[in-house]
Amino acid sequence: MTQERTRVIVTRRLPEPVENRMSELFDPVFNETDIPMDAAALKAAVAEADILVPTLGDRIDADVIAAASPRLKMIANFGAGVDHIDVTAAVKKGIIVTNTPGVLTEDTADMTMALILAAPRRIVDGVGALRNGEFSGWSPTWMLGRRIWGKKLGIIGMGRIGCAVARRAKAFGLEIHYHNRQPASPMIEDALDATYWESLDQMLSRMDIVSVNCPHTPATYHLLHARRLKLMKPEAYLVNTSRGEVIDEAALALALDRGELAGAGLDVYEHEPAVNPKLLKSPKVVLLPHMGSATIEARIDMGEKVIINIKTVLDDHSAPDRVIPDDL
Ligand code: DGY
Repeated sequence: MTQERTRVIVTRRLPEPVENRMSELFDPVFNETDIPMDAAALKAAVAEADILVPTLGDRIDADVIAAASPRLKMIANFGAGVDHIDVTAAVKKGIIVTNTPGVLTEDTADMTMALILAAPRRIVDGVGALRNGEFSGWSPTWMLGRRIWGKKLGIIGMGRIGCAVARRAKAFGLEIHYHNRQPASPMIEDALDATYWESLDQMLSRMDIVSVNCPHTPATYHLLHARRLKLMKPEAYLVNTSRGEVIDEAALALALDRGELAGAGLDVYEHEPAVNPKLLKSPKVVLLPHMGSATIEARIDMGEKVIINIKTVLDDHSAPDRVIPDDL
């Protein structure tokens, strides 16, 4: 099969330059409507494609993988997180899975920093008040938030994005603490003045701001459950730009309601696109619609990575961003 005749089915609209390049290289089928595909459509796609290009929100579970025809060589995910794909089932069937790490690190870290600032400094409250005509002049006691400088930031997950958040946070005068499966290298710890906490519980109880930057895996599902949220200081803030499933969203809504946490900045949700109604209503929460990596540059770079991964596999080389499941 020549590369031009490779049937690449893309589940969502991608930036124009990415679709154009794919059209030059392969035989792609694009989703003109951009309506997310349901299970039946995904099964039909894997039965027909040589390569599937899904993205987050497409549930590529064991059932969908079972429907794949032997011609499906590869699932080239448009995105870094692969928690929507049953990678083990795919790999067991001989299907290569790739993702797009690295190219959305800095943008996601910027958005994390934006939430770290926005929640304690009440930026969204301020915009709302101004627009509602509530600004009657500067006041010594109006719109008071909490200072960032000198506070302790606890990062859960010191991978690429966690480190990029730490670099930014350090420049804002935050003290860097982190919890990770393994300590970071001494070089990273020194550069960031970062303190490693083997015990997440111990770290949580001492932080002023906690940022979730670990992937969603079976081990991190509801990592921040009700008991752990209760360990946090009532004046602390929680920020999540990773995956909603890492936090028990109902427990978080309750903790905020009860005044057990000062506030939160969320870009991701447990049941996207649904958002817990209590969080939607809470004035203590800054909510964004999963836009951490939403820059034109990141999305084009992600597309570029998808194309490189596909081309490498079609050339019978090892894909640069191959995902290897932990359990195989
Ligand atoms: C990803 O690539 O997994 C990100 O969540 C997209 O923002």
